[in-house]
Amino acid sequence: MRVGILTGGGDCPGLNAVIRAVVRKGEVRYADTFVGFRDGWRGVVEGMTMPLDVQACRGILPRGGTILGSSRTNPYKLERGPERCKVTLAELSVDALVAIGGEDTLGVANRLASDGVQVVGVPKTIDNDLSATEVTFGFHTAVQTCVDAIDRLHTTAESHDRVIVCEVMGRHAGWIAMYAGIAGGAAEVLIPEEPFDIDVICENLTRRHARGHYASVVVVAEGAAPKAGTLVYQSGELDAFGHARLGGIGNLLAVEIEKRTGFETRATILGHIQRGGTPTAFDRVLATRFGVAAIDCVHDGHFGQMVALQAGTIVRVPLSAAVAELKTVDPELVAVAEIFFN
Ligand code: F6P
Repeated sequence: MRVGILTGGGDCPGLNAVIRAVVRKGEVRYADTFVGFRDGWRGVVEGMTMPLDVQACRGILPRGGTILGSSRTNPYKLERGPERCKVTLAELSVDALVAIGGEDTLGVANRLASDGVQVVGVPKTIDNDLSATEVTFGFHTAVQTCVDAIDRLHTTAESHDRVIVCEVMGRHAGWIAMYAGIAGGAAEVLIPEEPFDIDVICENLTRRHARGHYASVVVVAEGAAPKAGTLVYQSGELDAFGHARLGGIGNLLAVEIEKRTGFETRATILGHIQRGGTPTAFDRVLATRFGVAAIDCVHDGHFGQMVALQAGTIVRVPLSAAVAELKTVDPELVAVAEIFFN
């Protein structure tokens, strides 16, 4: 078969490991040939490709990012976008497509699948907010990066008797903040799922410091927001999928905490550091398992499906189930974190 591969949305460590696994099994086991589409769906709409074979994948397993490039292009927002995708696939004689991405990229894959395009999805997002899979690759690496940073922030916070607010990624779901906060011993973890009350946070910090703690790290997901009517907070411009550019809640919190508690407070925004670099061993293995399973899915003709991890096993689920609703942080995890607040 002739198989196209694309990576869409925000990049994350492990994308190259998936590409490598799809190509390796496809070429060696099934005698497939591959077309690499550049920059996510943009490459399919505009016919931008690059050669892809086992040779092109040598050495990419530990490399962060994606050799194919990525974008947030949404064909359904472009004139004749879906039709242009179909024309490109026909012109290049592509029989099937492996789309590696998060909610937006796989949402497009789902719509194209209903339109007759033979597509299989692989779940990717450092935010870990895709339904139907226990975890996405990239998440584990991002959490480890955050925990390393929080450990460093703790030592400098202690030297200077400070509060440090550490802002991490997590647009709609606070998985990174929650895992990194628990693993890093955060004094507070603020997530998009639960609007926060600045008064309660400041009371908790004041009580904590009165008991002899002289430093606190507050972990906040970029998508966390204050309870209605408590603090004014505005997010930035929208992308092609209608998402606001985030990043700013950490600075706002630091100013408010210092003003209300009198504790010297600083903010650190980890930003894209969380998305870069080499994947952890866990993410390399998960990405490799997903890639191998995806090309098997193609050869079984199971289109409109996504590979997923459930109870430690790789399974196939309908793309529609993966993008139906966001997977938000488990309340059980919130309860664990809260034991360490105050
Ligand atoms: O891919 C998800 C994500 O990392 C979010 O956590 C974050 O809000 C967003 O991407 C950042 O996007 P960009 O790289 O376009 O600034």
